[in-house]
Amino acid sequence: MSSDPAAAVVAAATSPAPPAARGPAGPSPTSGPVGRPETVAPMRHLLSMADLDAAGIAHVLRVTDSLGEVVRRSIPRVPALRGRTVVSLFAEESTRTRLSFETAARRMSADVLTFSAATSSAKKGESLRDTVETIAAMGVDAFVVRHGAAGAPTQVARWVDAHVVNAGDGWHEHPTQALLDCYTIRQFRAEAEGRTVGTEVGTECFEGLRVAVVGDVRHSRVARSLVIALRTLGARATVVCPGTLVPPSLEGWGVDVCHDLDAVLPEVDVVYLLRLQLERGTGSYLPSAREYSAGFGLTARRAARLAPGAMVMHPGPMNRGVEIADEVADMARSLVLRQVANGVAVRMAVLYLLLAGPDAPDAEELGRSLGVVGA
Ligand code: NCD
Repeated sequence: MSSDPAAAVVAAATSPAPPAARGPAGPSPTSGPVGRPETVAPMRHLLSMADLDAAGIAHVLRVTDSLGEVVRRSIPRVPALRGRTVVSLFAEESTRTRLSFETAARRMSADVLTFSAATSSAKKGESLRDTVETIAAMGVDAFVVRHGAAGAPTQVARWVDAHVVNAGDGWHEHPTQALLDCYTIRQFRAEAEGRTVGTEVGTECFEGLRVAVVGDVRHSRVARSLVIALRTLGARATVVCPGTLVPPSLEGWGVDVCHDLDAVLPEVDVVYLLRLQLERGTGSYLPSAREYSAGFGLTARRAARLAPGAMVMHPGPMNRGVEIADEVADMARSLVLRQVANGVAVRMAVLYLLLAGPDAPDAEELGRSLGVVGA
């Protein structure tokens, strides 16, 4: 038991509701729009950014405000998900996303099971379905799934009764990355206006915000989720890339397309750089990384053309010297490490909303119990 009185308050306020009985429960494993800011949103899964409407995104960001306070404490742990089990099922490489989800689950006192394709029976030919059903039989409340195939997390949601979070599927989507990016933009804007991020900060800063999403849009699940989130919140996104890296269809994206980074830079509030996905064959779409860099890399000379207060973002891992120059990655206006730091709090919020149950405190109550300004 902690002797920290603040932690005791947090403990009291965020004690978990009893774990839901395992087995068929809740609605069918499809995710629907979520938008009830006044209560803990009844999220079943988070498979796509399209699962959240504007109120639903705002709600996740407000819960993140509260849980972000926990992360900054000397003992960054609350018992909100004690008794719940989260499995991180990563069938594709990851550094930050896996560690971020696992840290988030542990900071909420959940038990964490780690599955790694490289050291599992998947190597012996076990199918994804058998793997998932085997893990589910051990009693798991949530699957965090990364997979090279688009749609794999949606399939997992059909096979198990547990909650499922998409941690990146093929070229398709990466919704928690988009949420942490939105959180980071909102935080930076609030700070620039001298406001402390707390539950009084809404999502107004996205209205008319101009964002350039630059690079390998074709192969980027990050771009897909981010564009959906930005549009939902009222921002204006422009994708900037060579013609060969424009996705086969942009129908429904609602973005402008531009092939001239220099023309776009002075006009935008955020320049969001994407990694060249060489493992997905991007190399064959480009003459060379060097030529790409000459046209689309954010060099120091280019960064100097950004408007004052403009943000530079990248989901990582960065190819320094290709899509982003070394010195730009380390500039004050580069929010790359902030994105990583916020990723833990955002994933705490997502797991909390999925798993804490209907009786858990809502964002405002949670904020007040944690002493968040404005709650
Ligand atoms: C991204 C991914 O894996 O989709 N990284 C991440 O999760 N932060 C982007 C990338 O690999 O380029």
